[in-house]
Amino acid sequence: MQKRRIFVTSALPYANGAIHLGHLVEYIQTDIWVRFQRMQGHEIHYVGADDTHGTPVMLRADAEGITPAQLIERVWHEHKRDFDAFMVGFDNYYTTDSPENRAFCEDIYTHLKSKDLIAVRSVEQFYDPVKQMFLPDRYIKGECPKCDAKDQYGDSCEMCGATYGPTDLKNAYSTVSGAAPVRKASEHYFFKLSDPRCEQFLRAFTQASDRLQPEAANKMKEWLGGPGDARLSDWDISRDAPYFGFPIPGTDNQKFFYVWLDAPVGYFASLRNYAERKAKDGEKIDLDAFLRPGSDTEMVHFIGKDILYFHALFWPAMLEHAGYRTPSKVYAHGFLTVNGEKMSKSRGTFITAESYIQQGLNPEWLRYYYAAKLNSTMEDIDMNLDDFVARVNSDLVGKYVNIASRAATFLTKYFNGRLSAWEQLSRIDPVSIAERSHSAKEIADAYESREYGKALREIMRVADSINQYVDLKKPWELAKDESKHEMLQVICSKCIFDFKMLSIFLAPVIPAVAHRVAHEFFGLEKDFAWADYNVYPTKIRPYDHLITRIDRKQITSLVEANKESLKPAPPPPHSQQRHAQHQENVVETAAQPSTISIDDFSKVDLRIARIVMAEHVEGADKLLKLTLDVGPLGTRQVFAGIKSAYDPAALAGRLTVVVANLAPRKMKFGMSEGMVLAASGEAPGLYLLSPDTGAQPGMRVK
Ligand code: MSP
Ligand code: ZN
Repeated sequence: MQKRRIFVTSALPYANGAIHLGHLVEYIQTDIWVRFQRMQGHEIHYVGADDTHGTPVMLRADAEGITPAQLIERVWHEHKRDFDAFMVGFDNYYTTDSPENRAFCEDIYTHLKSKDLIAVRSVEQFYDPVKQMFLPDRYIKGECPKCDAKDQYGDSCEMCGATYGPTDLKNAYSTVSGAAPVRKASEHYFFKLSDPRCEQFLRAFTQASDRLQPEAANKMKEWLGGPGDARLSDWDISRDAPYFGFPIPGTDNQKFFYVWLDAPVGYFASLRNYAERKAKDGEKIDLDAFLRPGSDTEMVHFIGKDILYFHALFWPAMLEHAGYRTPSKVYAHGFLTVNGEKMSKSRGTFITAESYIQQGLNPEWLRYYYAAKLNSTMEDIDMNLDDFVARVNSDLVGKYVNIASRAATFLTKYFNGRLSAWEQLSRIDPVSIAERSHSAKEIADAYESREYGKALREIMRVADSINQYVDLKKPWELAKDESKHEMLQVICSKCIFDFKMLSIFLAPVIPAVAHRVAHEFFGLEKDFAWADYNVYPTKIRPYDHLITRIDRKQITSLVEANKESLKPAPPPPHSQQRHAQHQENVVETAAQPSTISIDDFSKVDLRIARIVMAEHVEGADKLLKLTLDVGPLGTRQVFAGIKSAYDPAALAGRLTVVVANLAPRKMKFGMSEGMVLAASGEAPGLYLLSPDTGAQPGMRVK
């Protein structure tokens, strides 16, 4: 097997907040992948860091009466403690506020400048005359221009749902000082993303096969448009002093790099810091091979879908034109919901990593549950607390651990922990090595492609079949009859061999359990490697329990511990500003009414579509296959359950409305890439929607 050299990252968490269960989806997902690759024998370096710069950190430190350096130092320790507790095994956990990072940022900036990819333009922004600083929009509040509700943010009104810009607010005030903000112009530095060189590069980069997930590649296509569309605007990479960050060279400490410029560069800085640390121990990591183009090393980023824009556009464009290597893969995951809803402080479902540990819950329960829910798409992941308890108890305790406890007792009691000789097995009840290898391959492929749920389903299928084997062979009866003891030993030995295999398959997910199985149960000196699954063990030590059941009461107290009494949101609760949609991870603090916000609604991308062709589908009695022209979004194939109401011939050419961002669904007859809208009531009858004349394919419906 070819030994791969892989550099892996997870997104760098902001240094102004605690790690919570949402974050852990990402760090656990990455860690599982890293552990899996390591078990395969590949060279893999997993680094992280705190994302320390920007206005929120500066203001928070100010409010606490400490320096930003003190704040980020404290938070670094909290984050590190949480990652360690959940066994997120970073090889290096660093900070973006480091000399390495500064040097990389300056180098990248200098190269972009020398290539004429930096522009300077005047920008007008809100300015707090008391605090004497420019204010990001979310530090501005005021009265809704429409309904006069007080204390509304500058993008939309929580009372009436109106949307507007911060300049539309009445009696606007700075949430930092309370002063009325003024408009003030200053010079900003831009990275010229609109330059044809960037656009050209990004088109090729984002569409290259397998680099992004299909949904992500499509999104990028939409953002980039067709050749010549010039949809990308230049990216504002500077902020005015005072700002906690790195000064831009040649600006006399007046301009600073915007935090989102230096944050991803922090990946490189952490790797360099790691390599230098390792070099002191005499271990050489070839940095250039990881950071410069032209080698066979891989760079893999795990991120949340909310920061795709930065990782699939800004970051690679920056790297490409500054002479660095670009990402091999960008893997985006969805957002965590708890019991089907956004994490909420009032419901107690905004659960911090720290409280989970403090309440005495086992981190491997969570790792297992997340793995069971994770796949390679950007779909959101729901943690249903009842399902969490049921799944962990039934799979890990009821199926997996059960095998060891059932078989080990007999081996210890009657055979001094010795397994039967391999020849005995072969003679009495042979093991199918081919079958094991087949499972191993299937599971390895699933891990590799981040289909963890699939991997665990296969593992539990194997566990089920072993438990059935035990039920069938009834070792407890064989034990009573000494003449059947050879058979007893063979059966238990087979179970233990299988248990070892399952432990290896589960090791990326529950590394502490796997470690104890290797060292304490089998008495080995090393942790398992993947290839060990077919190595037959010779003896075991007495079985000691490996993992306990979750008691539902523990979950109840966890939720109680995280419940915050209903009170108005403290300003400003958000993490750093997002470029595009940034509402998803803003935590709401009041109980949710059964309405949706305008943001929820605007997540549905409704478009006018022309039905180019409508056809019968062989074998389907309800469906018609529609080929839709959605203007700039291209052609889509959609299966619609409208056969009872429409003759295909009558549909061709007409316009209707389609949900364009519905996740594609594989149906028996092919992929369905959207949904057309139709009305229906109690009585039979189905009525397709159509727009007024003048609407064109691709137009947005809102
Ligand atoms: N600091 C930036 C990332 C810079 S990377 C160069 C940031 N930080 S964050 O703390 O807000 O989020 C860190 C990671 O956790 C992101 O990938 C984000 O998508 C992920 N998650 C944060 N909340 C999440 C959920 N509720 N669910 C799943 N992932 C979540 O973004
Ligand atoms: Zn309003």
